[in-house]
Amino acid sequence: MRNILVTGGAGFIGSNFVRMVLAEQPDCLVVNLDKLTYAGNLENLAEYLEHERHKFVHGDIGDAALVERLIDEYAIDAIVNFAAESHVDRSITGPKIFIDTNVSGTLTLLEAARDKNISRFVQVSTDEVYGSLGSEGMFTEQTPLSPNSPYSASKASADHLVCAFGHTFGLPYNITRCSNNYGQYQFPEKLIPLMINNAVNDKDLPVYGDGMYVRDWLYVYDHCTAIWRVLEKAPSGEIYNVGGCNEKPNLEVIRLILDHLGKPDSLIKYVKDRPGHDRRYAIDASKMIDELDWRPSVTFEEGIVKTMDWYLSNTTWLANVVSGDYQKYYETMYSGR
Ligand code: NAD
Ligand code: TYD
Repeated sequence: MRNILVTGGAGFIGSNFVRMVLAEQPDCLVVNLDKLTYAGNLENLAEYLEHERHKFVHGDIGDAALVERLIDEYAIDAIVNFAAESHVDRSITGPKIFIDTNVSGTLTLLEAARDKNISRFVQVSTDEVYGSLGSEGMFTEQTPLSPNSPYSASKASADHLVCAFGHTFGLPYNITRCSNNYGQYQFPEKLIPLMINNAVNDKDLPVYGDGMYVRDWLYVYDHCTAIWRVLEKAPSGEIYNVGGCNEKPNLEVIRLILDHLGKPDSLIKYVKDRPGHDRRYAIDASKMIDELDWRPSVTFEEGIVKTMDWYLSNTTWLANVVSGDYQKYYETMYSGR
């Protein structure tokens, strides 16, 4: 039996990872530590909450005593750290919590991993630590870190701490840096689920700036298989970029959504741009592909249809997620634009 501590496993990517591991890895016990912030949602794991190989624990990665107790109690041999504040716009309006969770929280996990001799620490990071690209080129693992937003600065800080714990204390680790994920269970503050939710409800689709910002879209299941591959096969100390090879300007993604949902282009509304908005991200994932034999399983065209169909058939999940605090968030974030 392999016992892993997954943090942030009630969020978007973490819950997809937990579901994948429980379904596909019969010898793996998952201890899932999540603070259940606005982005954490136990409905993402509804049919797995009583699963015999899944132990959900409500708590903070910054709680050292709790983290150490879980490692001992469940004889944890690997940690996969998804827990984070993850939204760039929120990091612009309130950066402090990003330092508390993404930097200090990661440090707490690293200290516990070192002290308890954990055999592998996998840090789930982002391509945003590399900064922004012009119209040419791609991020490789050698690209210097040059983060631009408070979010990406906090993730880059965490990456440096992970490497420092490897270098200084010999902690076995890997870092994965992925591009923008999309798929089932994503909170509708991020581009794709926000646009789907608004289009379904005939609300304006707020496009920042000229809409020609480019992201490299990665289907969430493919990201999860990449992380598992790293956990199983990667030598310690290696960093891997994970990308979907699906670069698209935002407007192209939005038009595809409108088209599939049968909604008019007139819903598009150009709004005030995000301050410091990174122009383009593009990932060179050849190290994952060549060294770990990983491949994305779907094209963007397949993944986006699966995603839209999932949101259309999970209207209760969506309705619950956008009730209450989400309305307040939406008004604050978009009313002045
Ligand atoms: P998310 O915001 O959907 O989920 C984050 C989860 O972490 C939530 O369940 C939340 O409750 C939990 N959490 C937050 N603070 C915590 C704390 N102090 N202690 C314990 N749990 C806490 O995020 P996501 O989109 O699933 O992203 C997961 C990871 O992947 C993050 O580290 C993020 O930086 C990284 N990432 C995400 C994307 C993307 O496109 N979503 C892209 C690149 C990297
Ligand atoms: P987002 O999903 O927030 O991810 P990130 O900023 O981490 O890449 O945004 C993706 C792109 O979509 C980014 O260029 C900003 C843009 N965007 C909009 O145009 N309108 C929106 O309402 C949101 C949330 C994002």
